[in-house]
Amino acid sequence: PAPGWAIEADVVVVGSGVAGLTAALRCAAAGHRTVVVTKARLDAGSTRWAQGGIAAALGEGDTPEQHRKDTLVAGAGLCDDEAVGFLVTEGPDAVRRLIGTGARFDTDSATGEILLTREGGHHRRRIAHAGGDATGAEISRALVEAVHEAGTGHTSGSAPGRPAASGAAGRGTIETIENALVLDLLTDAEGRTAGVTLHVMGEGARDGVGAVHAPAVVLATGGMGQVFSATTNPEVSTGDGVALALRAGAEVSDLEFVQFHPTVLYLGRDAEGQQPLVSEAVRGEGAHLVDAGGVRFMVGQHELAELAPRDIVAKGIMRRMREQGADHMYLDGRHFGAEMWALRFPTILAACRAHGIDPVTEPIPVAPAAHYASGGVRTDLYGRTGVPGLYACGEVACTGVHGANRLASNSLLEGLVFAERIAEDITTGATPAARPVPPAHRPSGEPLQPHAARSAIQRIMTGGAGVLRSAGSLGEAAAALEALESAAARELRENGCTAEPCVETWEATNLLLVSRFLVAAALEREETRGCHWREDRPDRDDRWRRHLIGRLSGDREL
Ligand code: SIN
Repeated sequence: PAPGWAIEADVVVVGSGVAGLTAALRCAAAGHRTVVVTKARLDAGSTRWAQGGIAAALGEGDTPEQHRKDTLVAGAGLCDDEAVGFLVTEGPDAVRRLIGTGARFDTDSATGEILLTREGGHHRRRIAHAGGDATGAEISRALVEAVHEAGTGHTSGSAPGRPAASGAAGRGTIETIENALVLDLLTDAEGRTAGVTLHVMGEGARDGVGAVHAPAVVLATGGMGQVFSATTNPEVSTGDGVALALRAGAEVSDLEFVQFHPTVLYLGRDAEGQQPLVSEAVRGEGAHLVDAGGVRFMVGQHELAELAPRDIVAKGIMRRMREQGADHMYLDGRHFGAEMWALRFPTILAACRAHGIDPVTEPIPVAPAAHYASGGVRTDLYGRTGVPGLYACGEVACTGVHGANRLASNSLLEGLVFAERIAEDITTGATPAARPVPPAHRPSGEPLQPHAARSAIQRIMTGGAGVLRSAGSLGEAAAALEALESAAARELRENGCTAEPCVETWEATNLLLVSRFLVAAALEREETRGCHWREDRPDRDDRWRRHLIGRLSGDREL
């Protein structure tokens, strides 16, 4: 649909988690008129659900070099060394700036020092946390408040003209548009970024399909956990940024590396949608993984036992479940006692109790569930994609820091560090004004999927491309996804109709597109590496020590 309204800005940030809001605050601070577009409320994305914390070499005796080593080991040979170097060396100061923005981390009441915990794959206590296990909620609160304070200005829809002077510190503004699903990238005649089209639900004069024109667009839309039936991700995590980037001609990388968090509260075989996380920090503080007989099965599998990197723990749990024909294992933290549970893990305690489980007196039933997309839109070290003016940061991006398996609590850090790098690039570079070419149709030409396709896609992906995969299961998934695609295309061809444009149908369409790329990459990678576990190719094979890069070329080609 053609946009019914348009406004002008210097930068559009799509998404409002740690990455998006950090980028917006930095761009505005440098004098840029910044618009933040987000699909639900400003705090509805994944950031606020993060529990364990944010990893950075802040503790006495810790160094970026040690953090780097742990990150590279977890990444199983596919991390970009340079990107990891920026992450770990710029990380500590980025966390300090976050504190300057207002985020309050847990500190030792006597010394005032930030308290640090451990998580899987870290050889030291390195994870700063807030509110015990509510780190993301605190970061989100601080950033949203800062954005509201900065958002005094209004981005005008009038003049088509030009950017506020770079470096005019303090003169920028942030306008936020909530309940708005971004549809497609706008480009100019030379293929440079010129803004986005978006569908706003219930914003008065800005209702319906409109456009924000800007020469720089930052994708910070988070992940795609909703591709699977059970996930720790909120319902807004539908891969919208990856789908937009693909349609815009950008490249994606490493999509096969979906991280399954080992300890998600098990709510039964048929549990669907967002599931409560039981943070790695619970293991970091000494809880044990046990089977129904109370046996600690991770001991002897890895030198770090329950604190091995996440892929190894998830595999250990799955193996034990298979051996015993069980559908979950247990996390035993009874020895913490009631006081520690209440002080250190209030969110998890409340979630467990809401489901009739009391971690103070009984082990918590847990099983792996989809958690994090280690891959995403391929970027360079300044978050630039191959499309001039289009950037990506946070979970939507593949900067190279995670490789085949993200190290625990590196995600909030990546969002912070690379958002700042992007803001630096935008605000110090001369981004030329681009004049958008009106979009005649959706660039990829694909029909919209009906709302019901969402649960069909989730079933297909969980069955065929979940924690355990094989050529057979992936082939079946690819065929089933293709059938969904063909059915909608046939409907369009024969009856001239497509599903009604609304958030649900755009989301289903995005889920289908990203699922197809994910399955294609998982089929192609004929080895087991990091969080990609092929039952039919159980070993790591260094002929595959390379990235699988995809793009939408022509009409529907992968
Ligand atoms: C957790 O708290 O276990 C999640 C940490 C992460 O995903 O990095």
